[in-house]
Amino acid sequence: MRKLDGKATAALIRQELAGQIEVLRKNHGREPGLAVMLVGDDPASQVYVRNKERACAEVGIRSEGFRLPADVTQEEVEAIIARLNADPGIDGILLQLPLPRGLDSQRCLERIDPSKDVDGFHPVNMGRLTLGLPCLRSCTPAGVMALLAKYDIDVAGKKAVVIGRSNIVGKPVALMLLQANATVSICHSRTAHIANEVRNADIVIAAVGIPHFVTADMVRPGAVVIDVGINRTDQGLVGDCDYAGLESVASAMTPVPGGVGPMTIAQLLVNTVEAYRVHVAQGQDA
Ligand code: GUN
Repeated sequence: MRKLDGKATAALIRQELAGQIEVLRKNHGREPGLAVMLVGDDPASQVYVRNKERACAEVGIRSEGFRLPADVTQEEVEAIIARLNADPGIDGILLQLPLPRGLDSQRCLERIDPSKDVDGFHPVNMGRLTLGLPCLRSCTPAGVMALLAKYDIDVAGKKAVVIGRSNIVGKPVALMLLQANATVSICHSRTAHIANEVRNADIVIAAVGIPHFVTADMVRPGAVVIDVGINRTDQGLVGDCDYAGLESVASAMTPVPGGVGPMTIAQLLVNTVEAYRVHVAQGQDA
């Protein structure tokens, strides 16, 4: 079985980006800027945000952190987003999810200028993705596609099964696989005989959030397995797939950690540079 090494692939992407950013900064007189908003004190979110800011620093993206208390009001969050939308030094706005109870995340996300929506969650970007038009694409799904491409895994004509239908991963990754000419099904908690659906697939994308949900008996020998799960358990960080059991069944598979996680962050950096390129081309900071 081939291990699809997201950690090493992400490091290569960061290295390439650092070179590009150096040139861009000289040509345009400023570095790309990313605003990172974290509301409340969810421990997992704090780790993600710290990792994102560290990755920015490594490649030469200026990140601006906004730490807001859990009792901040909807209006206050929206006012900060409005200010960042108008700030010519900010190319990307990342609002870490989930938000504390009482805040309407969808409403917040819809306030972000679509050209600064580096998470690809705004309805404009999700809509353009659905239509197959260029857009900012959500980071985890785009990171999965980049990893498959890096290992020359062609999805065209293959049967792909996505387990999970979230707006962050399941739906957009299904659309990206479809765009890449896979035959796609989406399974979820109400799917009947889910094991049979998964057994049909050449490519399995697990994004359910249940530790070791995908077991060896569910997977067709030779299938490619992408594990998007990050589950914190007493045994530490575990994925949605039983990696040890699948090693003798899958032809290629992502580990957890070191698979999709680092690719998500690398894609955030890629998206921020893409947004920056659009903004400087528009002469926004002239
Ligand atoms: N929470 C879990 N995944 C993500 C992500 O990709 N972006 C943001 N902003 N929040 C998340």
